[in-house]
Amino acid sequence: MEEIKPQLIKITFDGIEVEVEPGTTIMQAARKIAEADESQGYLVPPAMCYYKPLPTSGGKCRACLVRVAAGSAKDPRPMPKLVPSCITQVQEGMIVENTTNDAVLDTRKSIVEFLLINHPLDCPVCDQAGECHLQDFSFEHGSAKTRYEEERRTFEKIDIGPFVQLHMTRCILCYRCVYTADQITNKRVHGVMNRGDASEISTYIEKAIDNDFSGNVIDVCPVGALTDKTYRFKSRVWFSKPVDAHCDCEKCSGKVTLWYRGDEVIRVTARKNIWGEVNEFICNTCRFERKKTSDWTIEGPTKVKRSSVISANKYRKDLIAKPDFALKLAATQFKPIDDEREYTTDIETVRHQSIENNDKANHRSLLPQNNN
Ligand code: SF4
Ligand code: FES
Repeated sequence: MEEIKPQLIKITFDGIEVEVEPGTTIMQAARKIAEADESQGYLVPPAMCYYKPLPTSGGKCRACLVRVAAGSAKDPRPMPKLVPSCITQVQEGMIVENTTNDAVLDTRKSIVEFLLINHPLDCPVCDQAGECHLQDFSFEHGSAKTRYEEERRTFEKIDIGPFVQLHMTRCILCYRCVYTADQITNKRVHGVMNRGDASEISTYIEKAIDNDFSGNVIDVCPVGALTDKTYRFKSRVWFSKPVDAHCDCEKCSGKVTLWYRGDEVIRVTARKNIWGEVNEFICNTCRFERKKTSDWTIEGPTKVKRSSVISANKYRKDLIAKPDFALKLAATQFKPIDDEREYTTDIETVRHQSIENNDKANHRSLLPQNNN
């Protein structure tokens, strides 16, 4: 019997027409444009909570807000407010503005500021640095200033099982780990407790840790709130070389990325797609116990798609080039930067200050509270 294909819906996203299946979200339509033409990748709205492989994720962080300038061909009125592109479905004739709309770009700056209200600026001592989506989001879309003066909330670090550590202080409440726990457990043993400023994941997630696939919460966490205890403080991600490898595993697909420092496998993670999402979860045996090269069949260097320091000094020189967004940001932000501090131009003073600052940073990174 002939397969009946659903009628496609045509929308315009930042001036580009794209046809997608009914039920597609605006975010997925934008990703379709970028998947067809890599140079359009900058059009895709950022996502801090949406994670395609985790059904029902999205709608929490507002990083992906866009303007719908025309709702549909039937009702071409604009939507009154910006809408989250990750959970808003397309309509025939919809016109969406993202990078072409100043209000969207301006709002995105505020969203970065909002997410950083409670997130500590401890990137120099955070294991996620270099592969942190919040770091990328703030670099690509944030502003140089914050208006927040209150103290950030802090939590004690919690060991959840032998392999995973939760540092709630860094959590942005994206719910990704919650949805991951939902997938790997049969009963509801997890969730976000309390409301507003008092919200936290915590004990619910601890109960999900007694599971062969619990390590996947580390990979889905966009920040350094959930980290791998077998890898913490072993290296910076830009010093390690990622390699795709597989093994014959009875519990999972066995397809992983091995992270080498010299000849040593210092970390095993699931593989991520071009959007930084894990398509196939891996089991804890592959992640935490197979740390010898002889455990694996090596396929070759991992192709790192995200513009990231992970790709610097590795296999592909073209990935070291400054990504487009950095040049665009520099072009738009260089002049308006409002910085009236006095600068010294005396080279000896500059050198001295720089040595002093490095010493302070080194001292901070060696403090016991930053190393357990
Ligand atoms: S711990 Fe990480 S994955 Fe879980 S809600 Fe917080 S930021 Fe999201
Ligand atoms: S990515 Fe859409 S709301 Fe978070």
